[in-house]
Amino acid sequence: MDGAPQDLADAQRQHWQDTYRTHPGMYGQEPSAPAAHAARAFRAAGAGNVLELGAGHGRDALFFAREGFTVQATDFSPTGLEQLRDAARLQEVDHRVATAVHDVREPLPFPDASVDAVFAHMLLCMALSTKEIHALVGEVRRVLRPGGTFVYTVRHSGDAHYGAGTAHGDDLYEHGGFAVHFFPRALVDALAEGWTLNEVHAFEEGGLPRRLWRVTQSLPR
Ligand SMILES: C[S@@+](CC[C@H](N)C(=O)[O-])C[C@H]1O[C@@H](n2cnc3c(N)ncnc32)[C@H](O)[C@@H]1O
Repeated sequence: MDGAPQDLADAQRQHWQDTYRTHPGMYGQEPSAPAAHAARAFRAAGAGNVLELGAGHGRDALFFAREGFTVQATDFSPTGLEQLRDAARLQEVDHRVATAVHDVREPLPFPDASVDAVFAHMLLCMALSTKEIHALVGEVRRVLRPGGTFVYTVRHSGDAHYGAGTAHGDDLYEHGGFAVHFFPRALVDALAEGWTLNEVHAFEEGGLPRRLWRVTQSLPR
């Protein structure tokens, strides 16, 4: 499949809007385990600013801000980002966090080599085709400065929900209203071409549990 059907992607946007509206702050206020790892990796690489893609209501963006990074948080759900901004004000880190509504199927709205680090927890495995995922990682590469670090996580083909629900082709399955692109290992390796692949770490999150890989890759200096 060359592109995820437009109607699936658009329906997913509405689904995430409705989900954040009915379950405000659904992921809680504590940072995810991958964000804690990323903060250490970003600091070790000398990063000062972080771009987070698919930030949702901001459990991780706000953690990066509390850790002293300047954060640009994007998501295609305005409702999630509104909750993020409210929480940023309450936590008094709003001066370090900016938000932008953005669909990652479109080019990133940032100049070349303008960010130190990029973080994306469970975003690349959303309703995106393999072609769209490659284009997105190309955009991440464009906006990262030389030596920049990219940490992302994805559900993979060892996940309990792999193959469950409605099949949309291209390893995309829709289950309980959420569409997920389950990553095969070959896709991780293909996305790291031209990068240094620092680590692929398997971990679990949530009650199901979701089975994920945390991938850390960096650009040559
Ligand atoms: C599984 S949630 C993870 C949210 C956040 N990273 C976290 O872990 O708390 C996936 C997020 O990606 C966003 N998303 C899904 N598809 C997107 C797209 N095409 N462009 C931008 N954001 C998208 C959803 O709105 C949602 O906030």
